[in-house]
Amino acid sequence: MAGTFTGKVALVTGGASGIGRAAAIRLAQEGARVFVADLNLAGAEAVVAEIAAAGAVAPASAVQVDVVDHAGNQAMVAAVIAAAGRLDVAFLNAGYYGAAEGLDSIDEELFDRLIAINLKGTFNGIKAVQPVIADGGAVVVTASAAGVVGHPGNPAYSAAKHGIVGLVKSCVDAFAARGARINAICPGGVETPLIGAPDVAIVPSADLPRVPNRGMGRAQHVAEVALWLASPAAGFVNGQAQILDAALLSTFAPVMLPVGP
Ligand SMILES: NC(=O)c1ccc[n+]([C@@H]2O[C@H](COP(=O)([O-])OP(=O)(O)OC[C@H]3O[C@@H](n4cnc5c(N)ncnc54)[C@H](O)[C@@H]3O)[C@@H](O)[C@H]2O)c1
Repeated sequence: MAGTFTGKVALVTGGASGIGRAAAIRLAQEGARVFVADLNLAGAEAVVAEIAAAGAVAPASAVQVDVVDHAGNQAMVAAVIAAAGRLDVAFLNAGYYGAAEGLDSIDEELFDRLIAINLKGTFNGIKAVQPVIADGGAVVVTASAAGVVGHPGNPAYSAAKHGIVGLVKSCVDAFAARGARINAICPGGVETPLIGAPDVAIVPSADLPRVPNRGMGRAQHVAEVALWLASPAAGFVNGQAQILDAALLSTFAPVMLPVGP
């Protein structure tokens, strides 16, 4: 996809780390002017420096945002429009998993936090980008495999990600009215700091297809799907919750459990 996003302006939330970082780097490689937004400003600035050091054709910029804050999302998008004059791609990807508390141990405070960052944060981002997204533009939102099946190990996270899928499907018409698309991605397990793995380098292209069946993915595996959904090649794909999980969810019972007494 060389130069797929040349002349385009892209915003990536959660861009300081993991999937967002990989997507920001790949969007810049494809010619986009990238705004790397994150609560972690130093991390976002480090990704911007990484993009500049790689010789990007368009300058990247860092923006600090707490996606939980409605006004902060509006300010983030206003900063993009003020600096670049347009917004073609929004990858609303910031998220939080926490310590994976099951129903027995999760409390109201953690439930509220998981919903606030993952679901309300996505709502805030969608509300901010919809009025300005360019004709022909695309929004990609990061849900999760836990957004299409239940996750007993982290029910609040799963509820938030299910909510994201419903939100995306419900916003199709509002974006279509602007000539833009919106889709969700639902990754399975991905090696990123979210689940305690170190951030990893961009994968050599020869290694990209080498994912074991039902195994963990790399941040770039998810980024590549996000880029494709944001690209004109996916122009007929809209309102979808695209699963990418190396077949994690493809069968009813991957491991046969003993039944009955
Ligand atoms: N890693 C996985 O296994 C996995 C699987 C499915 C979905 N996801 C989703 O992918 C997205 C990216 O996660 P990742 O795995 O790259 O994790 P990550 O921890 O590497 O990156 C998440 C980024 O979001 C930022 N962030 C967190 N709260 C924020 C807030 N309130 N405002 C702004 N930024 C905030 C963090 O600072 C961080 O840079 C998340 O939405 C996550 O739920 C991850």
